[in-house]
Amino acid sequence: MSDEIKFHDRILSLSLARVTEAAALASAKLIGRGDEKAADQAAVDAMRSELNKLEINGVVVIGEGERDEAPMLYIGEKVGKGNGPDVDIALDPLEGTTLTAKDMPNALAVIAMGPKNTMLHAPDVYMDKLAIGPGFEDNLINLDMSPSERITTLAKAKKCNVEEITVCILERPRHEDLIEEIRTAGASIRLITDGDVAGVMHCAEWQKTGIDIYMGSGGAPEGVLAAAALKCMGGQIQGRLTFRNDDEKDRAFKAGIKDLNKIYSRDEMVQSDVLFAATGVTDGSLLNGIKRSANFIETDTMLMRSKTGSVRRLNYQQKLNN
Ligand code: FBP
Repeated sequence: MSDEIKFHDRILSLSLARVTEAAALASAKLIGRGDEKAADQAAVDAMRSELNKLEINGVVVIGEGERDEAPMLYIGEKVGKGNGPDVDIALDPLEGTTLTAKDMPNALAVIAMGPKNTMLHAPDVYMDKLAIGPGFEDNLINLDMSPSERITTLAKAKKCNVEEITVCILERPRHEDLIEEIRTAGASIRLITDGDVAGVMHCAEWQKTGIDIYMGSGGAPEGVLAAAALKCMGGQIQGRLTFRNDDEKDRAFKAGIKDLNKIYSRDEMVQSDVLFAATGVTDGSLLNGIKRSANFIETDTMLMRSKTGSVRRLNYQQKLNN
């Protein structure tokens, strides 16, 4: 079987759900315990162990950090049994460590898998992001437009008033001017304290989440994961890396990035078909968090394939030994 055919193996795609389920279940014990590190570590250990059961020859391209700063699931780490297709893996075992530690909404365990050399090797720097849901002409809005121009253009395309547009933004001091400009333009803002992968994904299901557009800067690795999600769900995202110092620029050069000002489209961040899985850790607008009943612990997972546009919702009940 060619690698291309093996990559699209339907069993392999289903088994990706087990990987995020395991990470979410492991971090569940630490929801609301105020210990970000322990929650993250539990998710990392479980995700790694489950990934290594898959028949893939995988390399982590978006992971827990550079090799010298992350002992597990570091960038470049080989994962899987080594006997399957060559694949790139982008992962975040716990997207929203603080959300988990504080039991706040929208913490997720996430992973994306694509054929080898098809994902942007985004360094651990910030990325300015702009995302909208499906159904609009390509490049309807872009990062070179002012925030108010983006909103006015989107409102026109949606045939609604600017006042009916809701923008999702990470609540950070660096976004003060952005927030002020959007409020002055008349749109409403949903501020989130963390978790911009979920923030971007919310645009793809705007009728359900009430979010029309995502703006602002967050982690670049999370930008690639969000691009993978939107490639499956539909929707547009653009990202431009931003740098605070020369060290961050060096990280980008080392990751093979030549043009530091480039605006990446969704399909430049994720260049080929991709599989994406996310399991809810805490409750959110798209996914339920981990639920415990007398006999079971339950997870809610979205498993998606960009090739077919399929979105599966998987409810898993793990029996409790009591
Ligand atoms: P962690 O799960 O690693 O804590 O990341 C959460 C997050 O909110 C991301 O969703 C986002 O991209 C990034 O942190 C924003 O970074 P910062 O907190 O430095 O603004």
